[in-house]
Amino acid sequence: MKPASIRHFLNTQDWSRADLDALLVQAAAFKRNKLGDQLKGKSVALVFFNSSLRTRTSFELGTFQLGGHAVVLQPGKDAWPIEFNLGTVMNGEAEEHIAEVAKVLSRYVDMIGVRAFPKFVDWSVDREDRVLRGFAQHATVPVINMETITHPCQELAHILALQEHFGTADLRGKKYVLTWTYHPKALNTAVANSALTIATRMGMDVTLLCPTPEYVLDQRYMDWAAQNVAESGGSLQVSHDIDSAYRGADVVYAKSWGALPYFGNWEPEKPIRDAHKHFIVDEAKMALTNHGVFSHCLPLRRNIKATDAVMDSPQCIAIEEAENRLHVQKAIMAALVS
Ligand code: CP
Repeated sequence: MKPASIRHFLNTQDWSRADLDALLVQAAAFKRNKLGDQLKGKSVALVFFNSSLRTRTSFELGTFQLGGHAVVLQPGKDAWPIEFNLGTVMNGEAEEHIAEVAKVLSRYVDMIGVRAFPKFVDWSVDREDRVLRGFAQHATVPVINMETITHPCQELAHILALQEHFGTADLRGKKYVLTWTYHPKALNTAVANSALTIATRMGMDVTLLCPTPEYVLDQRYMDWAAQNVAESGGSLQVSHDIDSAYRGADVVYAKSWGALPYFGNWEPEKPIRDAHKHFIVDEAKMALTNHGVFSHCLPLRRNIKATDAVMDSPQCIAIEEAENRLHVQKAIMAALVS
């Protein structure tokens, strides 16, 4: 039986600002006191369609530290491949349908985490987030987004790291630069979508710095950011000028992503990407900032996205942000089962 209303953690935009603030306060408390019993007798299925270091480790350990148990499943590797389309004659690779998978897991566990990156063929399909939505539709327990086309757990870890760095929960008025960086492959826009969403939600003055207009993010996230600006009093601008974007910045957050107009047809995008290797975060750019702090969600290719000097500088809080994944996810899981 499906409960009348299940609270999922699919996107921060679905949660009120007060509820997000409460998660951040609880995460800070878990950082001070690691162990708890909020998940005693509870279990979570962590379903990974893609690789992970931080997400898998922090969810497994976080569940353990709160007295619960995590089961990791990798469909197509150690679990059956899953079909997500309704009405399909399942004569391909998939051995079972999400309708059964989500319902069966819901009989065993108290929450389901899902990591499912885009297929990188057709953005109009990937932007529907079908895998995550399929779990949320058919599960009778809360579903957590462990990164699909957004990465809401990373958002909270990032914000907690900024709050710690600046010594205040109030980030309004901080000049925040989300900069595209080069990467040899066209990557997911998830973290960029998320950074834009949460930075505007927190009332920061946000600049999306990217090589050309083609690298502007999907309209859904640009709209969320505009809505957040209207509600939080921050600001949002798109820039293609490195110097003016970095000048006076309090926060530089870097991520690489593929330009959506070339989604699934990456060959013509490659020369554009290759022509913008100079978007690397280096000491000269950081020197333009207001003693700005640098972060990245990791994994990061050194001397491609950011130099050794930036990564090893006291301004880099990427490791702090990665640690915070553990604390914010414990807060999220505790909230969802309470
Ligand atoms: N930032 C992040 O989600 O790291 P992993 O891909 O290693 O989980």
